[in-house]
Amino acid sequence: MTSQAFTERDVGDFFDQTLQTYLSFWDSDGVLHTGYFADETDDDYRAASARTSEILAADAAIDGSSWVLDVGCGCGNFLIELAQRFRCGGVGLDLSIERIKFARTKLASRAGLAVEFQHGSATQMPFGDNNFSHVVSQDALCLVPDKPRTHAEVYRVLRPGGTFAFADFLQPTEQISRRARRHVYDRVRWNSGYSLVGYQSALAQAGFEIVLARNLGRHLRQTYRVLGATARDRAQTTPDPAARDWMLAFSESCEQIQIAIDDGEFGWGIIVARKPAARSASNPR
Ligand SMILES: C[S@@+](CC[C@H](N)C(=O)[O-])C[C@H]1O[C@@H](n2cnc3c(N)ncnc32)[C@H](O)[C@@H]1O
Repeated sequence: MTSQAFTERDVGDFFDQTLQTYLSFWDSDGVLHTGYFADETDDDYRAASARTSEILAADAAIDGSSWVLDVGCGCGNFLIELAQRFRCGGVGLDLSIERIKFARTKLASRAGLAVEFQHGSATQMPFGDNNFSHVVSQDALCLVPDKPRTHAEVYRVLRPGGTFAFADFLQPTEQISRRARRHVYDRVRWNSGYSLVGYQSALAQAGFEIVLARNLGRHLRQTYRVLGATARDRAQTTPDPAARDWMLAFSESCEQIQIAIDDGEFGWGIIVARKPAARSASNPR
């Protein structure tokens, strides 16, 4: 099924090495996730990406009492937004040290937030058991080669009754064409993913109760349509030839990515799951 077996190291290196390029055309604040667009004419990626975060926060029912872990936090935007909006606290964890450094710099310019950023992997989290009220993530978990291990880690660090709410890329079908393999999967060092149904089964197997699952493929298509056009425009004014070539190649990939989405080889969704509440001795059911 996979043409290559990318390791965590491959993934971390990719997100370290591409930080500056992504900052130069995708989002200068370092946001790197799928947008939720108003309709098919909506071209405003910034607003759409902020909307995804708002939807996920609402689905997760984050409030001022929440203690949140953002897995694959990237440049830290989601957690900082949550802390500013709800006055909650939390930790962001990411495999890319360059992105963690960027997140820490951003945090330093915002006083009084109960937030920190740590370098590390979703498969070996540097946290104690039953620690967080919420674990959130945007477009990161699919990249982990050992997914069951991540699910076990999320389960371990969540408090009983805690919420696991995330957006992620989906692999809706087993068979992946060479085109999709090249432009969707290999491009970001992604081995394989779950279908929306398969994801829910995997989480249930890890002990979670499924709260909701949304299939949001059309927003994924719109994201790559809008960003492909942005990269093409930005390439015209980029003096560095290597950066220009990267943007043009990305823009070409965006055309192919939209075909892969239409062909059912690439998808995106939001899932909310819950770690069951602890059973009391008087009510062990
Ligand atoms: C597409 S970016 C999304 C970043 C961020 N969530 C956002 O919304 O902007 C995926 C992120 O997942 C991180 N990542 C991939 N594998 C990881 C792992 N095993 N543990 C922690 N982070 C990981 C990458 O380093 C990258 O920053």
